[in-house]
Amino acid sequence: MMTTLSSEIPEKLLPWFDRCKRLLPWRENRDPYRVWLSEIMLQQTRVSTVIGYFNRFTRELPTVQALADAEEEQLMRLWEGLGYYRRMRMLHQCAKVIVTRYGGRFPDTAEELQKLPGIGKYTSGAIASIAFERPAPAVDGNVLRVLSRLTVNNGWNADSASTALRGIYPAGRCGDFTQSLMELGAIVCLPNGEPLCRECPLSRICRACAEGNAMSYPVKTEKPSRPVERLCVYILRCQGKIAVRKRPESGLLNGMWEFPNMPEKNAVSPEKLGRVMRTFHARHIFTHREWDMTVHEVEIPLQQPEFSWYSEAECVLPTAFRKLLEKNR
Ligand code: ADE
Repeated sequence: MMTTLSSEIPEKLLPWFDRCKRLLPWRENRDPYRVWLSEIMLQQTRVSTVIGYFNRFTRELPTVQALADAEEEQLMRLWEGLGYYRRMRMLHQCAKVIVTRYGGRFPDTAEELQKLPGIGKYTSGAIASIAFERPAPAVDGNVLRVLSRLTVNNGWNADSASTALRGIYPAGRCGDFTQSLMELGAIVCLPNGEPLCRECPLSRICRACAEGNAMSYPVKTEKPSRPVERLCVYILRCQGKIAVRKRPESGLLNGMWEFPNMPEKNAVSPEKLGRVMRTFHARHIFTHREWDMTVHEVEIPLQQPEFSWYSEAECVLPTAFRKLLEKNR
């Protein structure tokens, strides 16, 4: 297997990046706090979604100190809808460590950064290169796809790719090189449909392009199927408020608010609760499971004390539940 990469990659990629890169809010400067926050938000979430969240978050919490001092409640509001709430908790924890142990300054090497909560190989490489100009690769799925096409080799993984890339990092432009690889994967060397080889600055050194079969790389691995859980969910309304309760402190969406719900097989008939306003179906896909929900919206006569009662605007709900309020309106 080929384990080295052409040193022509940076000299072809960087001028393209300078010309074609998207103007994104986290590219306005190299503040490590902003680089870190953007990379955490971009894990699992699309750029177009992240932009708004990133702007709001940095407006309210402009520094790592401000984040460390923030209340969980404020963070929940800023993160509401982004999903993967564990990321947010790790972010908070990490900010506290940076403030208490590092005097509010991010460490400036990938090795040191990896000791922090929620920062793995990818994120440490992104921060060390983008914020601190270290020759530290950040290999994600986009980068692996680019390399596998360039070299017609499906065997790259994060470690082999990092080793090979480290050998061609251009001094003085490490941050831009990291971002140019991601950018190429995001806007040219596309995963679905045809990659835009005619616009690619690397087409002349790309073996998949030469063979005209970029779509054969990388080989798609079959995704493991997710178990499907059937749930009955009740949106109980009374005097302008809705019923919510806290989820258990461990497991999926731990500690977050939810609408009352139960496995469909032990479901309570909604007519027994009050006046049924509507019933509909909704699905929500998590990483490791899927919910198939039958949702009953019911007007009930009394605010039962086993629930907490809030207006829609007051309660912070994970997307799986929040979207039920917006559905079929
Ligand atoms: N995806 C992951 N990191 C990114 C970044 N810094 N810019 C754009 N897309 C990204």
